[in-house]
Amino acid sequence: MAILRAENVVKTYERAGASSVEALRGVTLRVEAGEFVAVTGASGSGKSTLLTVLSGLDLPNAGSIHLDGIDVTQAHEEDLAGLRNRKIGFLFQDFHLVPSLTAWENVAFPAELAGEKTARERARALLERVGLSQRLESFPHQLSGGEKQRVALCRAVINRPALLFADEPTGNLDTRNGQEVVRLLLDLKAESGSTLVLVTHSDALAAQADRVLVMSDGRIL
Ligand SMILES: Nc1ncnc2c1ncn2[C@@H]1O[C@H](COP(=O)(O)OP(=O)(O)OP(=O)(O)O)[C@@H](O)[C@H]1O
Ligand SMILES: [Mg+2]
Repeated sequence: MAILRAENVVKTYERAGASSVEALRGVTLRVEAGEFVAVTGASGSGKSTLLTVLSGLDLPNAGSIHLDGIDVTQAHEEDLAGLRNRKIGFLFQDFHLVPSLTAWENVAFPAELAGEKTARERARALLERVGLSQRLESFPHQLSGGEKQRVALCRAVINRPALLFADEPTGNLDTRNGQEVVRLLLDLKAESGSTLVLVTHSDALAAQADRVLVMSDGRIL
């Protein structure tokens, strides 16, 4: 069963005073539930754009995207927000943590939004699991890059998303921290049976995927 289907997706960015950029030029793909798909390709080929439109964070200019049977391009913003909160986890290269919230609050937030009564306990358990039990009350600016990425990982998985998107999750980390984040990501994926779509420049990481998609100039080769 395909959990994600994209058909002829086009995404164009308008730039004031300059020509527009065709970041996605008709992308069609299917991802089966439970699959681990790696996306690779040169800088500027459209990988991050693909992830943001596939996950419903941004809308394409043309084409359709079905997430777990729901047509993202036709959905109302409220339904889309609910879908993102309950079904989707997103791990950003530059973490996107809320600066005014502690590590613990950042992780608990999506679960509280979903009305989860044990959000705080679950968040604490996840942070302990990734070795951050001494950092629960730290704010993002007090954490190292590797620590921030582990907090972001806990936040991405707290609602046990059916679909997990990760954009170069190890891009800003040294080798050891990068391997640690990947190990945790794959462990958590296995436990909740999530589908994972991950952008990476690492051949070693791509080699661990069920399938590798290579992007070039806004298309999948
Ligand atoms: N907000 C934006 N406004 C205008 N152009 C954009 C915007 N975001 C991306 N682009 C352009 O769209 C194209 C695809 O960008 P994208 O970020 O998807 O590439 P990428 O494959 O993720 O690259 P990288 O490996 O460097 O992260 C690039 O030409 C980029 O300059
Ligand atoms: Mg990118």
